[in-house]
Amino acid sequence: MNTSFSQWQNRVQAQAELVLNHFLPPDTQSPELLHQAMRYATLGGGKRLRAMLVVAAAETAAFNQTALSQAIAAVEMIHAYSLIHDDLPCMDDDDLRRGKPSCHKAFGEAQALLAGDALQTLAFAVLSQENDLPPQQRLRSLHTLATASGSLGMVGGQSIDLSAVGHFPDLSSLENMHRLKTGALICASVKLGVLACYSPDETILCQLDCYAKNLGLAFQVVDDILDTQADSAVLGKTAGKDAQNNKPTFVSLMGIEKAQNYANDLCEQAIALVQDLPRNSEILTAMARFVCQRHC
Ligand code: IPE
Ligand code: IPE
Ligand code: MG
Ligand code: MG
Ligand code: MG
Repeated sequence: MNTSFSQWQNRVQAQAELVLNHFLPPDTQSPELLHQAMRYATLGGGKRLRAMLVVAAAETAAFNQTALSQAIAAVEMIHAYSLIHDDLPCMDDDDLRRGKPSCHKAFGEAQALLAGDALQTLAFAVLSQENDLPPQQRLRSLHTLATASGSLGMVGGQSIDLSAVGHFPDLSSLENMHRLKTGALICASVKLGVLACYSPDETILCQLDCYAKNLGLAFQVVDDILDTQADSAVLGKTAGKDAQNNKPTFVSLMGIEKAQNYANDLCEQAIALVQDLPRNSEILTAMARFVCQRHC
């Protein structure tokens, strides 16, 4: 991996940890158990890809630091909530997440469910806090995240994913499911990054949206591949879970090799879309390569 990208990545990961720690209630505050579960599921792990996308998009222009911190925390909180719920017995029933017992294994199902609920609403509370950007722009960020997270976005994708168990959808249905369950929040991340800028550029917003659509789909295709290829110890989650749960995936539809080629093509398409950006095209390019070549 390119050194300057890995330094940038380390910096953003540290920044994400810092802002999440700041916005999450302390675990000594009542209800302690709930706050402990929220912090357990959010802090100290994860690649922070969504935070990286927020920052990479914001760095294409002059951004407001407070708005950026709010956006980073909000997308990572929605993501952490989605993982808590995804691991519950009524969904994927997974005992391992980010290299440790999943939230319901550590805190019980009821507290885990509530931790997910509370992270979801906290994300919007954080994003709606005061900053120096115009109210209409802040409202647009809120609307973007709400739409991407709900029934027309991530939650809708999760619903389709669970209804698809044991079925054999065609390529376009599978793509639609992946675009919703994973792609929608990835697209929202770059949009929130642009919307944290003082003068959001609509052309860049549109370009980054297309970039993130390709990247988000590639990301989930690679997730499907890793589920069949990687070790649980490296992945930090239970490998082989998709086949065990009878989930239709890109691997079950097209096999490993075609799925990897498909992910590579999507990443190249994403890269082509950011080559003429005035700023940060190297970071966005390196991030697309990272998505395709990652091992966890
Ligand atoms: C896992 O996402 C769930 C999917 C959408 C595939 P990540 O692979 O980004 O999970 P963390 O944040 O790194 O743990
Ligand atoms: C989960 O997809 C996507 C969301 C949480 C929205 P997966 O079920 O494939 O994610 P992993 O493999 O458990 O991380
Ligand atoms: Mg799932
Ligand atoms: Mg899962
Ligand atoms: Mg998976």
